[in-house]
Amino acid sequence: MSSSSHCSLFSLFFFLLFHKISWAADTITATLSVKDGEGKTTIVSSNGTFELGFFSPGKSENRYVGIWYKNISVTTVVWVANRETPLNTTSGILKIIKPGILVLLNEDNATIWSTNTSRSVQNPIAQLLDSGNLVIKDAGDGNEEKNFLWQSFDYPTDTYLPGMKIGWNFVTGHETFLSSWKSSEDPATGEFKYSINRNGYPQNFLKRGSVVRYRSGPWNGFQFSGSLNSRQSPFYEIGFVFNPREAYFTNHLLQPVITKATLSWNGLLERTTWVDRTQRWVLYLNVPTDTCDIYKLCGAYGKCNIQTSPVCGCLDKFVPKNEADWLKADWSSGCERRTALSCNEGEGFLKYSGIKLPDTQSVWFNQTMTLEECKTRCLRNCSCMAYSNIEIRNGGTGCFMWFDELLDIRLVPNEGQDIYIRVAASELGKSFAPIHLLVISTLCFRTLCKVMIT
Ligand SMILES: *[C@@H]1O[C@H](CO)[C@@H](O)[C@H](O)[C@H]1NC(C)=O
Ligand SMILES: *[C@@H]1O[C@H](CO)[C@@H](O)[C@H](O)[C@H]1NC(C)=O
Ligand SMILES: *[C@@H]1O[C@H](CO)[C@@H](O)[C@H](O)[C@H]1NC(C)=O
Ligand SMILES: *[C@@H]1O[C@H](CO)[C@@H](O)[C@H](O)[C@H]1NC(C)=O
Ligand SMILES: *[C@@H]1O[C@H](CO)[C@@H](O)[C@H](O)[C@H]1NC(C)=O
Ligand SMILES: *[C@@H]1O[C@H](CO)[C@@H](O)[C@H](O)[C@H]1NC(C)=O
Ligand SMILES: *[C@@H]1O[C@H](CO)[C@@H](O)[C@H](O)[C@H]1NC(C)=O
Repeated sequence: MSSSSHCSLFSLFFFLLFHKISWAADTITATLSVKDGEGKTTIVSSNGTFELGFFSPGKSENRYVGIWYKNISVTTVVWVANRETPLNTTSGILKIIKPGILVLLNEDNATIWSTNTSRSVQNPIAQLLDSGNLVIKDAGDGNEEKNFLWQSFDYPTDTYLPGMKIGWNFVTGHETFLSSWKSSEDPATGEFKYSINRNGYPQNFLKRGSVVRYRSGPWNGFQFSGSLNSRQSPFYEIGFVFNPREAYFTNHLLQPVITKATLSWNGLLERTTWVDRTQRWVLYLNVPTDTCDIYKLCGAYGKCNIQTSPVCGCLDKFVPKNEADWLKADWSSGCERRTALSCNEGEGFLKYSGIKLPDTQSVWFNQTMTLEECKTRCLRNCSCMAYSNIEIRNGGTGCFMWFDELLDIRLVPNEGQDIYIRVAASELGKSFAPIHLLVISTLCFRTLCKVMIT
């Protein structure tokens, strides 16, 4: 008798315990805050994927509010709230207050960090969604983006999660980008930034301070031009949107994998996937991928070919601008036309294939023009140096025109694009097979150039 009632008491106890744990709230409300220290609390997204609470990175004793994967054995923080303003005690508390902002308070009730909003609602709550997005909305509202007063996906730290949009909202002027941690134990903003550059036609840049280290190239309808690391994947789909209101890229999962991309404190954008069997994050790809991903390595009109040694050469019909530098493997001075342009009748364009399109920061573009219209327009203007389609889907659409030097070109044999570059009349219609010209241009900096050509 008594043992059986003990038993049912026990099961009731475990039942309640189980429910308390598995039903951990996913929301912060007026009456439910997230606390550090004794009686520490967290919130957990509804299907148990993400958790939000206080943590200390590595050996650091600083306290931060962050989001991490709940069900992964290696603690992996994907977002940090107060990255610049750590707490040095465990008496922090994260609260939601009117008109709809989250505030992080220290032991003196001073605000250490807070969110922002331009709207106000009656009953604000903060909810951690299964995507890893922390959103603030009115308690009665659904999870559509238009209802959010604020969302952490608009303020990422170093980690890209599927569904985030990296780029620009031109209407509000808000930019969403990744920025590295300062070190593996300090989430403060580090030196590296991965973002969309909005000059000319949008491209993704990885920068260290103000110095560009990597450029993705413009989106060509399938991937970023010639960026092997943006190839379609069976796990996720990359989308790119560019219109007068916004420019961003995004990823959607195609398979139930756990994947993220993190801009590490030492400047690599690393996409990893979680492998349950080995309990490890496995590298899927990283950016920059190889030497040819180094921005402008081969200078203007230079081309980087990862299959050759050295990797830098000049485009066909171009020669090194400074042979002495090139002989010392300093390619930054780039190349120039071996026959200068003179704006004569008869100048025209040579087609170069398998190319990662040059930097589009100062390109002129029109998204609806055809290649033929693009050519006509470029030919008319002596300072138009090259043209190409923007997208290669549907046989090619849109028009790019470059009016200055062509920078940061790499060869991508099976995935690159065609570009048409202006050359002097005498360079057109010669019957050299392209392969010979390639040999000549690679030999040029050995001063054999002139001999071979004449
Ligand atoms: C947690 O991970 C284990 C394997 O590591 C898995 O069997 C389980 O379904 C996961 N639970 C959730 C809620 O993701
Ligand atoms: C903790 O931080 C406060 C400011 O937030 C500062 O005044 C105090 O000196 C710090 N204490 C320690 C031990 O670093
Ligand atoms: C902080 O605020 C709480 C609740 O408003 C109050 O009970 C507590 O005394 C305050 N603490 C300090 C140090 O002001
Ligand atoms: C809050 O908004 C103001 C004005 O829009 C902006 O200057 C400020 O940086 C924002 N603060 C945060 C924490 O986003
Ligand atoms: C949780 O939800 C996310 C987003 O809907 C989904 O990708 C993920 O597979 C779900 N995980 C589990 C364990 O149900
Ligand atoms: C772009 O090209 C289309 C025709 O192909 C033309 O109607 C439109 O005016 C052009 N836009 C600009 C800004 O030149
Ligand atoms: C050629 O294009 C440049 C750059 O767009 C422009 O400044 C210049 O006026 C154009 N010249 C002619 C003759 O159209």
